[in-house]
Amino acid sequence: MDAIVNLCKHRGFIYPSSEIYSPYSGFFDYGPLGTEMKRNIKREWWTEFVQKREDVVGIDCSIISNPAIWHASGHTKNFCDPMVDCRDSGLRFRADQVYWAILQPESGTDLIYVSVLEGDDMHEQALKKAKKLAKKQGISGPFLPLSELKDLTQCTDAEVYVNIPSPATGTPGVLTMPREFNLMFQTNVGAVKDDSAVSYLRPETAQGIFTNFANVQRTSRMKIPFGIAQIGKAFRNEITPRNFIFRSREFELMEIEYFVSDIENKWEQYYDEWIRDSWNWLCYLGLDTGSMHKDVKGPGDLAHYARACTDITFDFPFGNQELMGIAARGDYDLQTHSEGSGETLHYFDSTDGRRFVPHCIEPSVGIDRLLLALLSSAYHQEMVEGSNGKSETRTVLKLHPRIAPVKAVILPLVNNKPELTEKARELFRDIQSKFMCEYDTSGTIGKRYRRADEVGTPFCITVDFDTVDGDTVTIRRRDSMEQVRIASNEVLTFLSREIENV
Ligand code: GAP
Repeated sequence: MDAIVNLCKHRGFIYPSSEIYSPYSGFFDYGPLGTEMKRNIKREWWTEFVQKREDVVGIDCSIISNPAIWHASGHTKNFCDPMVDCRDSGLRFRADQVYWAILQPESGTDLIYVSVLEGDDMHEQALKKAKKLAKKQGISGPFLPLSELKDLTQCTDAEVYVNIPSPATGTPGVLTMPREFNLMFQTNVGAVKDDSAVSYLRPETAQGIFTNFANVQRTSRMKIPFGIAQIGKAFRNEITPRNFIFRSREFELMEIEYFVSDIENKWEQYYDEWIRDSWNWLCYLGLDTGSMHKDVKGPGDLAHYARACTDITFDFPFGNQELMGIAARGDYDLQTHSEGSGETLHYFDSTDGRRFVPHCIEPSVGIDRLLLALLSSAYHQEMVEGSNGKSETRTVLKLHPRIAPVKAVILPLVNNKPELTEKARELFRDIQSKFMCEYDTSGTIGKRYRRADEVGTPFCITVDFDTVDGDTVTIRRRDSMEQVRIASNEVLTFLSREIENV
């Protein structure tokens, strides 16, 4: 993970926000390469799920809206995480991410309480902390675990709670009891700063789709089943933003609300189709399929609005986590907005003369999280033979050409021969009209190849003396490093075939 974060920062994918003052936790700025990559992801999604389908149309709603939307949707009441404060350090944690256990050293009777933050290695961490505490008290392990690791929301006994140490300072008795913390960012609309002016930055794009259901259905004459898609920013005041862009406070969502018949269990067919299509699209982007999994939620794990939900999870470098969710939301949203607004959000089916509130399937994925999964899939370090014949490490992002920020880099073999640089510039301008490409003259060819590999550029095009004499160039493929020589006027056709039809 550190290697990916470093590469992102140093090669212009992603920078910490406000860095020249001090990085602002949970916010990020995308650099030139990250911006291109994000645009590629959004374009692929829109092409696949809007442009290529007759049954899906797009929408682009405001980020701030009438707060009545968030009251009706249940977000002002339910969009909360349990939070605890450490009075010692002033730090705040999500209660369901702080784990605790009670251990007893075999040699004594005193109990040892430990707390750790959620993570793959929390069992080892807990044991390490227990050993340290026991040593301080002059006792030694091995330990008998008296309880499994549980999170703070599962501690109901106040006498136990008071002994749990803060994960920040190790002091017991300084953690507040879990409290509900609403994740929506508040803002004031207009010049007056009173309660009537309070609104929220949207925490999801879905509600704008529901509230425009009737507008879109009427103006686009859509017939059920049909979907409305939206790409846009969402904001959540996460208590513990972490793992780089995995959980941030400002991120971008791609969501579809797909409206289907209300006939009993009819939604199940569409729910299955959206799980299948979402999975296939993620594979098409080049995600490592061996790292993708499906997590079908049980009734106890469902959000308040959902009848069913399947997460597609991914093995990130910090563990297996949710990448996207496909939820069956029933008629919850259109019903609540009908009640909240007084406008009936019905659908009239002219084939059978029935009026009903449609049910809805929602595939929803965060672009930033998907970008991180794609980078994790693509990041490789390999031993290769360097130009001096010795083996060296090459870092390479094996991004699918569709997703790679830059598709090709044009490299004149030397920089001081006008006949070469003129040819190279001419080729660069040609390719630029169709694909994102770069022109690179600094350093040896070997160094320039390595730079391109590191940011995932799939093709290096070298202009050499044969280009001047025979009008041919060499194209080096990033992953295999093999080179082919082709006519200069075939480069665009070659790239189109490789990037768009692979
Ligand atoms: N409208 C449904 C909805 O918002 P969600 O599971 O809360 O559902 C959908 O979020 C997706 O948004 C997640 O699967 C994830 O990809 C992304 N996501 C959620 N919270 C995020 C955060 N704090 N930072 C980055 N991405 C996030």
